[in-house]
Formats: sequence, structure tokens, C-alpha cells
Amino acid sequence: TVAPTPLPSSELVLPPKDYFGPKDCYNFPSDFIFGVAGSASQIEGAAAMEGKGPNLLDIFSPFGKRSDNYVTNENYYLYKQDIERLASMGVKYYSFSVSWTRILPFALPGTPVNKAGIDHYNDLINFVISKGMIPTVTMIHFDTPLQFFAGNLTARYKRAGLGFFNGGYQNATFEDAMVNYGKILLTHYADRVPVWFTFNEPFLFSDNGHSVNSVIKAHGRLAHFYKDTIKGTGKIGLKLHDNFGIPLNPANSSDVAAANHFNTLHLNTFWNPLVLGIDYPDSFKKTAHDYVPLTKSDLEYLKNTCDFVAVDPYTITVVSAPPQGIDDCAKKSDPNSPYYPYCVTQQEYNKFGWNIGYRSQSYVYITPEYLRTYLNYLWNTFRKPVLISEFGFPVFGEALKEPRDQVFDTPRSLYYQSFLSETLKAIWEDGVHMMGALAWSFADNWEFGDYDQRFGLQTVDRDTQKRSFKKSFFDLVSFVRDRHPNY
Ligand code: NOJ
Repeated sequence: TVAPTPLPSSELVLPPKDYFGPKDCYNFPSDFIFGVAGSASQIEGAAAMEGKGPNLLDIFSPFGKRSDNYVTNENYYLYKQDIERLASMGVKYYSFSVSWTRILPFALPGTPVNKAGIDHYNDLINFVISKGMIPTVTMIHFDTPLQFFAGNLTARYKRAGLGFFNGGYQNATFEDAMVNYGKILLTHYADRVPVWFTFNEPFLFSDNGHSVNSVIKAHGRLAHFYKDTIKGTGKIGLKLHDNFGIPLNPANSSDVAAANHFNTLHLNTFWNPLVLGIDYPDSFKKTAHDYVPLTKSDLEYLKNTCDFVAVDPYTITVVSAPPQGIDDCAKKSDPNSPYYPYCVTQQEYNKFGWNIGYRSQSYVYITPEYLRTYLNYLWNTFRKPVLISEFGFPVFGEALKEPRDQVFDTPRSLYYQSFLSETLKAIWEDGVHMMGALAWSFADNWEFGDYDQRFGLQTVDRDTQKRSFKKSFFDLVSFVRDRHPNY
């Protein structure tokens, strides 16, 4: 592993002065994927319509409020309008997730398949293609069928920390059910969908060895089905969440070790088996509850079942070795916590809007400099094409009172431009093999409990559902167009 770039001691706020200088004039490679993303529970609405069964997010939000996503963006009904608006902006890739309980209202193998659900995503995929765009599909994006929580919901929700979406994946029936569901999707749609994600950010759901094991096995089986059984020619992988750890003090070897622990725990736990075909990292083996070992034949079977490594690099996390006397440290140093043994330092870099507040104080927004370090780490460690499967910039309460026809969101434009220019430097100056980048999100949406964390490239009027482009959308697309041979 490569030691993370040192954290500048102070004033880590604005990018260097030459940010948009000559070095940023690189072009994107012609096969670089550029697109925008959303997910079923955050945009579809129609939560109990046309045969859809209940999922976790229909009744709970991870942030404690009762779920209020029954309407969201009404994308279940307005998908054609949404896709047309993206096509009109010149976006090529549209990344969405399928709602498991629309396809299988009762979730489990052998239960009825809902034709309305199959038809919906079929129409959606065909419409994307008819507009000259390319669909990418995530099979499960946090909206675990309620079926898997039977009798256990409250207990799961009482768990702290990473457990906020937790439960479901460790259910004994989960692995087979996920494989059954995923095979239905692949059988119906793989002929037209060239990029597949089995799981979205599974670490957030898997605070124990058993659930990680289910995720990894289900992914491996679906990848084999896709490649060996139906002879899929596209790419399949899973996307991991945003954590990249950098040491609080890069000169302090125990902080560096804590950052390495953090990174191997979050990244290598999945991609050691699924990419390299090697065992879980020690950081996971030593700290996981209910650790389920992988056998040699498991590892042979799982090796190379991800065609790419995909991350959602919103943030970096500044880590140090415990004990340290920092607020969060006591909890994180608890040997029963999956975080052990490191602690997370609270730092905010939001003075100029480059890194802005988020509900979790443990996180800071990633700066473009660290993005480049992160991309290098991924390429050097796993040697698979790197996909930024989400990246975006939330503004709390942006245009909250009156969605205007246009939001002039310059900080978001600068964020996107600097993020992509660091990606270009990683490609051309560091030799990182990048697969692409998908911006989150194509419109403001339901952020698991409220509509106030606005990541969108478009506003949505909550009363009328009217969408309006924000200025950042034009700036982002122009940046890509000016530099991409196929746009
Ligand atoms: C990543 C998640 O996949 C997505 O659902 C969420 O909206 C963004 N992070 C922003 O928090």
C-alpha cells in the first residue's frame, strides 16, 4: 500500500492557484464513461404502487425519522421526462438502481415475480437507449426488502454507528435470495446494460463477518452467472463508500498505521477476495464480529469477479492511533467496534465552501488533492480500472424556500471541475487506469430522512415536481464536452 499524501498543516481550504492552469488541459480518454446517477428509493416514489412490496427504507430512515420517501421525485412516473432532460444536456450514461421489491414483492426465491416491475425497468432501459444514452444498473442500493428483517427490525436499528442501515444481509436466507433476484435482473436486462453493480456501499450494511460473507459470496455467484452462464460481455463489480483515511500526522508512524488499517478495512475486505483472490485483510479478520473464514476454494472462485473497483469518494477521513482524547475516539477505540483500532478526528474545512458540513461530524468533504491520492491507492493496490461511481456536492437547504428556475451554484461547479481535473492528472501524470465518473445526483432528492442535503444538478419543486437545471449542470457538461473526444 502507498502511504497517503501528508495533510497540509493549515489553511487546507482553497485549491492551489494554478488549479485551472495549463496542466488541467488534458483530455479524457475516449472510453472514459461520464454520466449521472440516482437510486430507486431516493427518486422513484410510488412506494406502494403497482405491486411493489415493502423495503426497509419505506418504513424507516437511517437518520431516525419515519420514512417520507413515498413521493420523492415521482420518477417512477416521470422517468421519461427525467431521461429526456439528461439526454438534452448531452449526458451519455444514466446510472440507476432497481427496487428489489418491485421485481419480487416477497423478495425470496420461488415467490412471484411482479410483471409491472419487470416492465417498468424494461421500458426505462429502452427509453434510455432510444435517447442515445447508456444505462448502468445497481441491483441493491440500501433498499433491502423488509422480509429479511422479520422479527428483528428494532434490535437492528438500535445498533449504533455503522449499523444504521444494518440488518438483512446477515439473514441466513439473504445470499440465496440476492442471487435469485440478481439473476432475474441479468436474465432480463443484461443484453442492453453494459455496466452492473451488485451492491451499493455494502460496508454500511455489514457490521459483522457473516453479512460481509453473504455480500461477497452473492457477488461472486452473480458475476459467474453473468460471465459464464449468460456470457455477458459487459462489466460487473460493486461500489464501495467514500471513506479514504489519511493520517492526522503523516510523520507519526502510528497514525500512518491507523490510516492503513482504516483503508484496508474498508477497501481490501471486499476487493482482496473479489479482485485479488486473497484472504480478508487482518484489519477485518481481527475486528469483525462473527467472522466467517474464506476457504482456498472460495478464494479461487471469487478471484477476478470484479471487473473494476468503484468508489463514491465524497469524503476523506482524518485518522489517528487511539488513544488520543478526541471526542469520537473512545467509541471508535472500542474493540467491539469495527473501527478499532483507529480514531476519527473531527475536522471541518468548510470556510470557503470547498468542504462543507455534513450530518456526520466524523467526515470531512474530500478535497481534489486527496482524490488523486485515493485514485492512485486504488490503482496501485488492485490494478483494476477505477470508477468513481458517485461524486457530488451537497448544499444544505439550497433554494429551500423557493425553488427558482435556476440556481447559480458556483461552488458546485468549481467542485466538479476541480474534481475532474484531478482525475485527469491521475490518468495522465500518474498512470491511473480510470474507467469513468458518475455525478451524484441528476436532481435533488430524498437523502434518507430529508430533502435538505441537496446534491442535485437540478432542483425539484416539491409541490409541482417541476425540475429546473442548476448552473453547475451546464458547467459540468461543458467541462466534459471540451475535453472528451466522444462528446
Ligand atoms: C452515497 C449513497 O450511495 C447515496 O445514496 C447518497 O445519496 C450519497 N452517498 C450522498 O450521501
